[in-house]
Amino acid sequence: MAITLKTPDEIAAMRIAGRLAAEVLDYIAPFVKPGITTGEIDTLCHRYMVDVQNTIPAPLNYAPPGYSPYPKSICTSVNHQVCHGIPGEKVLRNGDIVNIDITVIKDGFHGDTSRMFVVGEPSIAARRLCEVTHECLWIGIGQVRPGATLGDIGHAIQRHAEAAGYSIVREFCGHGIGRRFHEEPQILHYGRPGTGERLQAGMIFTIEPMVNAGRREIREMADGWTIVTKDHSLSAQWEHTVLVTEAGHEVLTVSAGMPARPPVPERAGSTPA
Ligand code: MF3
Ligand code: CO
Ligand code: CO
Repeated sequence: MAITLKTPDEIAAMRIAGRLAAEVLDYIAPFVKPGITTGEIDTLCHRYMVDVQNTIPAPLNYAPPGYSPYPKSICTSVNHQVCHGIPGEKVLRNGDIVNIDITVIKDGFHGDTSRMFVVGEPSIAARRLCEVTHECLWIGIGQVRPGATLGDIGHAIQRHAEAAGYSIVREFCGHGIGRRFHEEPQILHYGRPGTGERLQAGMIFTIEPMVNAGRREIREMADGWTIVTKDHSLSAQWEHTVLVTEAGHEVLTVSAGMPARPPVPERAGSTPA
């Protein structure tokens, strides 16, 4: 199916879904402390979505072709886990880093966002990886405007990650999103400027770079979902859902508690003010 341009009504619904997804992260942030298990985080988020927000946790029982149904309501990816970590008995310890990825469905529309959390006191290396990956996300967002290409986004992200000595995971990417969780196009987090599809106002997609401190190669665990770095190096990821507007872009997964956009150049390659 081709890339769809969202109507004003669909955009209004996506704004609500995006904000609700971000608000689940605001809600859970104070609980992300040493001693909590990822399973307890999942249960708290599930109850908040279902009982407080009246949203549906999109991951629960999600089963793309070739996958077994996902068994939990959120993804929690700790340390060398890249993405799709399944919440369970794992206890978070001082110094761990964890990505919490939330996708809600509200009135039939999806909002998808993730953040990194540092548990207790992070190492300098862990903190830097999380910060650089956050910058990568926002540098990618900074490329989004009508007429830019998907390759512009991927290239800007890749360049920033690699300049810091990190690597970009290739096997997973951002995605169009709307009534379906994963729509066209695929948003690669690497690439060449000026290549790929041109952006048009009304497109909505996620940008969600996965950045490894070591080599880019990954491995899938026996649970059929959890992705880890092959070399066991730390991995980080941040995600927003973004609308292409006539003027540039609008981030839809915004909330009161959302970490501020880091001071990065609006367009990679341009001179910072
Ligand atoms: N939220 C993830 C994304 O950003 C997808 C998770 S699929 C799941 O695309 F089934 F693992 F939840
Ligand atoms: Co996503
Ligand atoms: Co996500």
